[in-house]
Amino acid sequence: MPTIVFANPKGGAGKSTAALLLATELALETDVCVVDADVRRRIAKWAAGGNAPARMTVVDDVDEETVIDRIDEAAGAAPVVIVDLEGTASKLVLLAISQADLVVIPLQDSAPDAEEAAAVIRVIRQQERMSGRKVPYVVVRTRTPAAYRSRLMTYVLAQLQPTGARILETEIVERQAFKALWVYQCPLENLPSAEVSGTSNAIKNARAYAQEVVQALRGVATA
Ligand SMILES: Nc1ncnc2c1ncn2[C@@H]1O[C@H](COP(=O)(O)OP(=O)(O)O)[C@@H](O)[C@H]1O
Ligand SMILES: [Mg+2]
Repeated sequence: MPTIVFANPKGGAGKSTAALLLATELALETDVCVVDADVRRRIAKWAAGGNAPARMTVVDDVDEETVIDRIDEAAGAAPVVIVDLEGTASKLVLLAISQADLVVIPLQDSAPDAEEAAAVIRVIRQQERMSGRKVPYVVVRTRTPAAYRSRLMTYVLAQLQPTGARILETEIVERQAFKALWVYQCPLENLPSAEVSGTSNAIKNARAYAQEVVQALRGVATA
């Protein structure tokens, strides 16, 4: 029962979006519990819209004191647990990472993002030393331009190279449908395609990304 934690202290990096896309895609096939520890509680509010997949639940009564209990309970209730974290580095982030089978670090093509991602990787390394346990992680490029290959991203990735971070092949492209998710408060599959352009490409993008995360988890399980 894997626990997948989304971390990057930079607000707007695309953590909640990436977490929600993974949750909704995986919930097509299995039970998923999201532990929403983002201060803005975006996923909990999204689910409160009433259109969450039947196999997806969200808990959001979580703070530093309770995060490990909430993750434990979620792992008892669902085979997949997804933790969305708040925008700033904190003890809560460290505690959540201590429970992770995989940390996903969303990364935008800006210099501050590379620094913040590197900071998350340092926290992961500290956690590994504290616990004597490996904490696997992957970087996912988010909000990338659809029309061209981002040179800035190449530069940002070069900055991360010394960390040896594994970068997912699939990018989460900047798409109207990924914004519309939050507006319509429903999974991609239920967006009104007449009103939101590019929904089918967005669904393909989300599936490819979710599959790669699942593969990364398999790699972890067999390592
Ligand atoms: N791939 C994307 N395409 C379009 N908009 C995005 C994408 N990822 C994030 N956004 C937008 O950026 C805003 C911030 O993203 P969010 O996922 O909440 O970031 P974080 O959780 O890291 O603060 C969201 O309101 C969302 O509309
Ligand atoms: Mg968020």
